[in-house]
Amino acid sequence: MLSRQRSTLSVPGHLQKMHPKAFGSAVDVVMLDLEDSVPPDAKLAAREQVISTLKALESKKCSGISVRVNSVDTPYCFRDVIEVVQAVGAKIDSIVLPKVDSAGDVHFLSRLLDGVELEIGLQNPIAIDATIESALGVENISKIAAAPRTRALIFGIADYSASIGARLNSISGHGEDDSEIYPGHKWHFVMSKIVQTAKAHNLLAIDSPYGNFQDLQGLLKSAKMSCALGFDGKWAIHPSQIEIINEVFSPAQEEIERANRILNAVKANPGRGAVAVDGRMIDKATVRLAQNLVDSVK
Ligand code: COA
Ligand code: MG
Repeated sequence: MLSRQRSTLSVPGHLQKMHPKAFGSAVDVVMLDLEDSVPPDAKLAAREQVISTLKALESKKCSGISVRVNSVDTPYCFRDVIEVVQAVGAKIDSIVLPKVDSAGDVHFLSRLLDGVELEIGLQNPIAIDATIESALGVENISKIAAAPRTRALIFGIADYSASIGARLNSISGHGEDDSEIYPGHKWHFVMSKIVQTAKAHNLLAIDSPYGNFQDLQGLLKSAKMSCALGFDGKWAIHPSQIEIINEVFSPAQEEIERANRILNAVKANPGRGAVAVDGRMIDKATVRLAQNLVDSVK
C-alpha cells in the first residue's frame, strides 16, 4: 500500500490529451476525475475515457492511481464504480469518494466494491479516500474515518466553503488570500480536525488544491501551512504545481540532519528524560517528531 502521497494531480476524465501528461509527470498519485471537472453531458464519455486510458496504460512514473467517482447522491456513482472497477480495477489503488456526509456513504461504496472485487477475483482490495467537504461531513468525521477501506481524508475546500455559507473571496475559492481575510487562518479548525482525525485512525490527511495555478508563491505559502499542520500532501490541479508540492512535503536535508542529531543525542544519554541539542530542550515528544521525520524518508 502506498505510504507517501505528497502530490495528487486531478485530471479531468474526459480530456484525453491531459492523460499522458499526467502519467509522465513527477506526481505521486494521478487521480482521474469523473466528478466536478466533468460537465454533465460528458459524464458517460469521461467514464469510457478513463477506462480506455487505464486499459492502455503500460508504464507510469507515479506510485499510485486513483479515480474520483461522482457522489452517492447522483445518478452516476454506482455505475462509475461498477464499470470502472470491472474493467480496470487491478490498476486502481483507491476510489476518491467526493462529498462524503456520513459513514453510510463509505459503507455503501465498500459493499459495492466487495461485490465487484469478488466478481472479477481482484486480489488487492481498492481503498477509499473520503473527501470531507460539507458541514455534515465534519460533524460525522470520526465515523467516516473508522468506516471500512478508508485510507485517507481529503479536505475539499471550495465545497466546504459553500456548505457553511462562507464568502467567496477569490475567483476559484481554493485557498487564495485566505490568511489575509481572517486573522489566524480561516480554515484552521476544519483543517486541524481533518488532520487530527486522520492521524487518530492511522490515515493519510490530504489538503485541497490551490486554485490560482499561476500564483506559485501563493501555492508555496498554502502548502507550507498545510504541511505545518500535519497534512501528508496536497492536491494539484495543474502540472506546474507538482514540483512545489513535492518539495514542501519532502523533508529538507537540513531537517533530516537535525532529526538525526536529536535521535543520536538521546541515544548517547540513556536514562535522561530531557537533553539539550543546539541549545534547545529535547524530550520524548521531540524524539517522536524526529523519529516520524526520519521514518518518512526511509
Ligand atoms: N492534468 C494534466 N495535464 C494538464 C492539467 C491536468 N490537471 N492541467 C493542464 N494540463 C496540461 C494542458 O493540457 C496543457 O498541455 P499542452 O501543453 O500539452 O497543451 C498544459 O498542461 C498547460 O495547460 P494550461 O494551458 O496552462 O492550462 P489550461 O488553461 O489548459 O487549463 C485548467 C487550466 C485549470 C482548466 C486545467 O488545469 C484543469 O482542468 N485542471 C484540472 C481541474 C480539476 O481537475 N478540477 C477538479 C478538482 S478540484
Ligand atoms: Mg468538491
